[in-house]
Amino acid sequence: MTTPTTDAVRTALRDAVATSLRAPSEHNAQPWRWVLGPDHVDLHIERGRRLPFTDERGHGVLLGCGCALHHLRVALADRGWHAVVRHQPEGPEGRPLARVRIRPAGGAVDEDAHRQAAAIDRRHTDRRRFSSRSVPPDVLGAVADAARPFGGVLHVAFGAHRTMFADAMREAAERQRDHEGYAAELYRWTHRYAGARDGIPAGARLEGPPPSYRDLVLRWFPQGTLRQPGGGMDHEDASMLAILTAVDEEPVSVLRAGESLSAVLLEATALGLATTPITQVLEVEETRERLRHLVVGAHRPPVVALRLGWPSDRAAPLHPTPRRPLDLVLTEVD
Ligand SMILES: Cc1cc2nc3c(=O)[nH]c(=O)nc-3n(C[C@H](O)[C@H](O)[C@H](O)COP(=O)(O)O)c2cc1C
Repeated sequence: MTTPTTDAVRTALRDAVATSLRAPSEHNAQPWRWVLGPDHVDLHIERGRRLPFTDERGHGVLLGCGCALHHLRVALADRGWHAVVRHQPEGPEGRPLARVRIRPAGGAVDEDAHRQAAAIDRRHTDRRRFSSRSVPPDVLGAVADAARPFGGVLHVAFGAHRTMFADAMREAAERQRDHEGYAAELYRWTHRYAGARDGIPAGARLEGPPPSYRDLVLRWFPQGTLRQPGGGMDHEDASMLAILTAVDEEPVSVLRAGESLSAVLLEATALGLATTPITQVLEVEETRERLRHLVVGAHRPPVVALRLGWPSDRAAPLHPTPRRPLDLVLTEVD
């Protein structure tokens, strides 16, 4: 196999970073920055894009960066490259979270990567009511399997666990509303200056009061324009609740759990499911601790919750949320 030129490597990395920008992130803050070197690309946290009042522990930022890293991997694999990723603990200012080098993968097309890459532009956070059709176990199993290569485990909550999970979500929504700085931060990321290309636009936020589906209460975003399917409360929502756990709470493990989150979301999208990532219930200490002991046992920390379901037949297509352009996110060095 011939060694690829530096130009070919840099072009492949640059193109994959461009694709990675579609990754989800809390409040669409896009807390990542990439630096392209001669034979690698580095992923950094963009510190000014943290959410200090909402995401006090900084897990949301690491999860968002992990999602971007996984999107990058998928884009590379889909184009015939094998990525070698070195994760690093968060260190002094300037040290990257991860360094990615690539080499030609050779051999057959990676079908999983191809399917997930095709889902990148189709994946959107959907906060609307889902269909009344339940998600069968084999589909849930396929989605859960996607988490494993990056150390994440997806636990789906049934029966009494589901009830307690939903109760914790409701309580978290009430408690977080009163946290200092939370409302101002929410306002900041939902009312961006013209041309900002980040934050959650009105078209991704539901109109009306906080959405409540059966036993579920989701995070409320102000003054949206997104309509429920069919315009009203005319069918039951059969969404499933799941929680993704990490190996531990070290930054590298949370970053890798972000890769698991991205893999789960892309796999779910490829299978036709609608998804809502949810961290609110884990951002409030009381409800986080309850979930950790109740749903998954104390040995693996929960890092992000997920709502999964079939989209309603009457749901209008969602519009993509904005992203900052490549030249603001990627620095090239020789
Ligand atoms: C770590 C993380 C946490 C999130 N938490 C929530 C949440 O609690 N509630 C919610 O409605 N959306 C949540 N989201 C979804 C983001 O708001 C969404 O990804 C972002 O606005 C970009 O939109 P998109 O996913 O449609 O591309 C979260 C996303 C990530 C990656």
